[in-house]
This record gives sequence, structure tokens and C-alpha cells, in this order.
Amino acid sequence: MVSDFWSKESIRLVRWKYSASSCWSCCDIPVRPTSNQSASGSESLIKRRHLTLSTSWKQSCTLAPAQPEIAMSIIAIPSVPLPATVRQSLLPLDREQWREHEHFLTSDARALLRNHGALKRQARQYHGALTHLLNLRDQDLGTGETQELAQVIKQHLQGLLRNLHSHHGFEDSSVFPAFKLQHPRLGAAIELMEQDHHALDQLLEVLRLRSQQSAQALRLRSEVESARLEADHLEQMLHGHMQNEEEILVPVYLTYG
Ligand SMILES: [Fe+2]
Ligand SMILES: [Fe+2]
Repeated sequence: MVSDFWSKESIRLVRWKYSASSCWSCCDIPVRPTSNQSASGSESLIKRRHLTLSTSWKQSCTLAPAQPEIAMSIIAIPSVPLPATVRQSLLPLDREQWREHEHFLTSDARALLRNHGALKRQARQYHGALTHLLNLRDQDLGTGETQELAQVIKQHLQGLLRNLHSHHGFEDSSVFPAFKLQHPRLGAAIELMEQDHHALDQLLEVLRLRSQQSAQALRLRSEVESARLEADHLEQMLHGHMQNEEEILVPVYLTYG
């Protein structure tokens, strides 16, 4: 079951869906492959859950110039749909029905979706700011104006990390234990979410170190490229995790008020 859950195909699809774009504000715009490209050239080797994901393909979208082929070795959540066995234990309420539900405005469902949206937007802005730096000429990376921007980017990252730790901390300490207690049949699903948080923590630690770097470091194009790759990973992980988490938590919030 676990190997099905982390199947190569799923990884490929999700990575394709959430591969990088280069826009400050396109958080909600899906990244589309250009017509002459496909994701079929990707190769993913999944060793275990907190794992090495080796991927190599050309990624591109209609919003950004094609990026060179990349080979990554990262700690990542393979953000895939929930396994069938877990899905079957969930309450039968489709995403399309959520906003129409009589409890949507009064339950925690709305707050969860709003919080997730805000966190994903903040991550998107961080990614977009780094992309902006990458689009500058080398001689412009070192100017005073760019260094001021680098300082703002650093502060933005620090705020993002604070918000993410706060959000995950609340879920770990309050939401998940309550769900396990009140809805034991969702235990396996909640445990998957807890594992996601552990994997995310590893990436957040990398980002914490990044946020402690001097803004001067972003004078170097190689540093900006590394930072943007980290931002890519963060977005992939957040989108995948939050999508699954919403599908577990929201139907319960709606059903039980
Ligand atoms: Fe979470
Ligand atoms: Fe969450």
C-alpha cells in the first residue's frame, strides 16, 4: 500500500503540477507545460518517506522561460493524493460541496482554508521575489537598491517560517490529538499528516539557516539559485500537504459543526 501511495507516477504528476513558475502573484494560477513538452522524461526514485527524490526533467510553464534541466537531491514529501484505504475512511463530502455547506461559515473549515491560502501566498511571494532577483543582470545584484530588497526578502522568509511553525504547532498539539480521540477511524490519515510535518520540519530548518544568512549573500547568483530551489520545494510540499490535510479535516468540521 505504501509503495502505491508514493508511486512514481503520482510524484511525477504532482511535481509537474507544482513545478516552478516565475511570477510574483500567480499563486493560484496552475503552471502548465508548454505544448511541446511532457513530464514523461522525469525519473523519480523513491527510497523511503523522508527520502531522496532524484528528478531530472525540463520544466517550464507559459509564464516563465524554460529552466535548464535540473537534478535534485532533496528531502521532500511526495505530495500525492491520499491512498485509497485512507480515503475510504473519510467522510463522503466532495471539495466542491464545501463552500455550500450550512456549517462552512461557522465551523473551523473556513479558517483552515483561509490560513492555508495565506501561507501558500506567502510562500509564493518569497519564490517570486527570488525569481525577480534571478532575472536581474549580475551587475544589478550588488546595488544598494537590490540589497535593500534582499533584506526585505529575508524578513519575509522569517515571517513565513514563524507562521508555518505556528500553524503546524497548533495542528500537532491541538487539532490532530483531538481528531484522533474523537474520530479514531481517521487515525491513519492523521498520522500521515504528522509525518508530513516531520518532513516539512527538515526543510524549514534549511530555510531557517537561509533566513539567518546576511542579505549580502544574495549578491551571488548561485546563492539566489539555491534559495529559489528551496522555495520550489517548499511550495511543492505545502501544496501537497495542505490539499490532503484539507480533505481529511474539512469534511469533519463541516459534518460535526
Ligand atoms: Fe499541517
Ligand atoms: Fe494545516
